[in-house]
Amino acid sequence: MRVLITVASRHGATAEIGTAIGRVLSEAGHHVREVAPQDVTTLDDVEAVVLGSAVYTAHWLPAARDFAKRWEDELRARRVWVFSSGLATQPAASANSPHELMALRERVGALGHRSFAGRLQRSELAFAERALIAGARAKEGDHRDFEAVAAFAREIADQLATLPAPTAAGPGN
Ligand SMILES: Cc1cc2nc3c(=O)[nH]c(=O)nc-3n(C[C@H](O)[C@H](O)[C@H](O)COP(=O)(O)O)c2cc1C
Repeated sequence: MRVLITVASRHGATAEIGTAIGRVLSEAGHHVREVAPQDVTTLDDVEAVVLGSAVYTAHWLPAARDFAKRWEDELRARRVWVFSSGLATQPAASANSPHELMALRERVGALGHRSFAGRLQRSELAFAERALIAGARAKEGDHRDFEAVAAFAREIADQLATLPAPTAAGPGN
């Protein structure tokens, strides 16, 4: 099956989670393409989408939110999974606005969502980001759990093998 992995990431940590998911799906025999959300021009050539975002100040990044809005009809007609990645000390879902996340999942008809711990390297942050994070009890370091990421990817692969395509109508249907 042709799968698009599209991830909004500021410093690369979340993008690498997307790449790891893509690797597992490729190994399971799927054709995987990775494109940044703002660079996607069509979904005609994919049957499934994995959409991810880093969480910043309790929100998904605008590129991922815009993607969900721009392609909502096409996404609802495809198999879609979403994931978030945020501070290692707390699950991203609890840091993210639960209402926003729920609305987003509904918008795209997501079959599942997972939150993953992320990476925080103060040295790579912009001045404003450093100032923002200064008061937070965020623990520096790479807290990504690639075993958990691979497990999520295997769940997706299993569901791709068994679940029928959604019957949601695309635009004009
Ligand atoms: C300024 C700033 C604000 C952040 N806000 C949140 C937040 O509200 N919730 C959360 O779970 N993680 C938050 N994080 C942690 C990031 O989501 C985490 O570092 C993530 O792995 C970054 O991914 P990226 O490298 O793909 O941008 C914040 C990080 C920074 C630097």
